[in-house]
Amino acid sequence: MSETYFVTTALPYANGPFHIGHIMEYIQADIWVRFERMQGRRVHFVGADDAHGAPIMLKAEAEGITPQELVARIAAGRPRYLEGFHIAFDHWHSTHSGENFELSQDIYRRLKAAELIYAKPIEQFFDPLKGMFLADRYIKGECPKCHAKDQYGDACEVCGSVYAPTELIEPYSALTGAKPVLKHSEHFFFRLSDPRCVAFLRQWLESAGHVQPQVANKAREWLDGQGEQALGDWDISRDAPYFGIPIPDAPGKYFYVWLDAPIGYLAALKSYFESGKARQHGETRSFEEFLAAPETRQVHFIGKDIIYFHTLFWPAMLHFAGAPYRAPDNVHVHGFITVSGEKMSKSRGTGISPLRYLELGMNPEWLRYYIAAKLNGNVEDLDFNPDDFLARVNSDLIGKYVNIASRAASFISRHFDGVIAYPSGTEALSARAGALLEQVRASYAAREYGRAMREIMAFADALNQQFDARQPWVLAKNPAEREALQDSCAQALYGFKILTCLLAPVLPAVAERVARELFGLDRALTFADVLEPPRHIRPYQHLMTRVDAKQLDALLEPPAPPAATAPTGPSAPAAPTAATVATISLDTFKQVDLRVARIAAAETVAGAEKLLRLTLDLGSEQRTVFAGIKAAYDPATLVGRLTVMVANLAPRKMKFGLSEGMVLAASGPQGGPFLLAPDAGAVPGMRIS
Ligand code: 2FM
Ligand code: ZN
Repeated sequence: MSETYFVTTALPYANGPFHIGHIMEYIQADIWVRFERMQGRRVHFVGADDAHGAPIMLKAEAEGITPQELVARIAAGRPRYLEGFHIAFDHWHSTHSGENFELSQDIYRRLKAAELIYAKPIEQFFDPLKGMFLADRYIKGECPKCHAKDQYGDACEVCGSVYAPTELIEPYSALTGAKPVLKHSEHFFFRLSDPRCVAFLRQWLESAGHVQPQVANKAREWLDGQGEQALGDWDISRDAPYFGIPIPDAPGKYFYVWLDAPIGYLAALKSYFESGKARQHGETRSFEEFLAAPETRQVHFIGKDIIYFHTLFWPAMLHFAGAPYRAPDNVHVHGFITVSGEKMSKSRGTGISPLRYLELGMNPEWLRYYIAAKLNGNVEDLDFNPDDFLARVNSDLIGKYVNIASRAASFISRHFDGVIAYPSGTEALSARAGALLEQVRASYAAREYGRAMREIMAFADALNQQFDARQPWVLAKNPAEREALQDSCAQALYGFKILTCLLAPVLPAVAERVARELFGLDRALTFADVLEPPRHIRPYQHLMTRVDAKQLDALLEPPAPPAATAPTGPSAPAAPTAATVATISLDTFKQVDLRVARIAAAETVAGAEKLLRLTLDLGSEQRTVFAGIKAAYDPATLVGRLTVMVANLAPRKMKFGLSEGMVLAASGPQGGPFLLAPDAGAVPGMRIS
């Protein structure tokens, strides 16, 4: 049996949509998966939502929904991004799943049996109002060093000092404002400092290829830490209330989210096997057989911020849990993505919204190419620079790659009825293709995608130069040069086929179209195709447009602030006459993001006289909106109908939960409110302008 890969990306927290950092990581992994498949390797590529933890529990509570509902809403929005950027996970699951409960509890029991788990009482701040132990980020107070107010429980953002939450002056709960009290609780610990763990990890880090050298060095620093920096044991339990997996035989205790998150990789794989999808990919073994098989390669793609979890706890947990579990074969770490040199910050609105990118009609393969062109196998940050993006995509993809086909194909179609012949033979190009394939293959395998793109584009340059030197547009005018014309175009089109094969992991949609539309193949290209000169073509169809600077301007525009003229709330529809409302510019109006929404659910709200709680489906996501329309509508009659919502209104915390937008309704002395509805044909998510 040959090696089979099991590939994952870090599991995203299920409390928000994907950001550009997620998409970059998924593109990196997706390219690698497609590359391995193109050379005939079997690969299972799975992902899942990281559903547990206090932030998700508290966010759901603030919205008046269950954590499960929140997780389901976020999960419902995932396919739009994944399909949009051609990221082809074979399966997407959740850490809040039967498989993960079972595997997490199993691994825990095995670690306990290996005497790597112990219980110890700890003292922690507790919010008496909320009845909940507080993680450091939920405690605030005055910095003990510089006396800045309202600093978090672990570090001061003003003077940068690091301290224990108990050192804060006048601490308070960030959740309720209550004064926290110190309380004892018994926690469970994983004995990471056990000499067996340390010895195993040293050896695992040393084995060539498990992690990049920089990552091994970082992990060894942690292992070698002395004094205050000494490697500690790992607190793996949290007290109720917590959204997580119960610890066996320990009522009221849950696994800390970071224990069950990586086990979620295996849970996703198990669910993929048990759903029958693995079988569709030619896998006949059971999940356990596959996991234990010596030819299975477990490969994780992650960001540099979570190295600690993936190079210390995770390999140790797996190794000491025993068969069928095995420590990962590779943990591939990438850096962060910055935008014009700035680190992303959602609150400051910098960064690029992947959804906006798609909504602007920007080609997902531009981004895949740009990211590929800038990635290497090291832990380096990658900068998205709009000028560079435009220049690279237009020069490489349009100027060098697509152009060669559009120019050569038209001569072959017009003068030779689509038949390609090679008067000067194909040997030279085939030999070149074979050598180039080996180089590019090595680059992809090492995740040196930037190098691979440079190698491919150097070949494209050579093809273009050769084509231009032979001047087919001159040859076409002279019937005596018919053979030369055909040869120059044939070589160019064979070259284009080679380029398409080599770029296919990065440009899967273009490669699929080229194979089908231009070369008339009814299968996907593989690397073996670089040695198969095409013998005929169909008429060339336009493959890709150039990047327009205006699209980039729109992409990088800061998010529109809530419209100045929007009413303050849905429960208080004012009825001004036209004359009482000031004139606004078209630009101001355009700041209001109006969308078609489907009312997925409508419920009365206990204790609210006028409000209905609406769940609005925008196609890519769902929103909760409280609307003051109870007097006019029976909730049951609203479900399923389309309406119009303001989608970029700042969320408002109301007594009954968070309202994330506003539905539009007309009202006046004659009556109302009357909900607006679009004409037939509109679908959720459509923008209104
Ligand atoms: O940092 C994060 O976003 C985590 N949700 C990553 C988890 S990776 C794995 F362990 F699940
Ligand atoms: Zn300070």
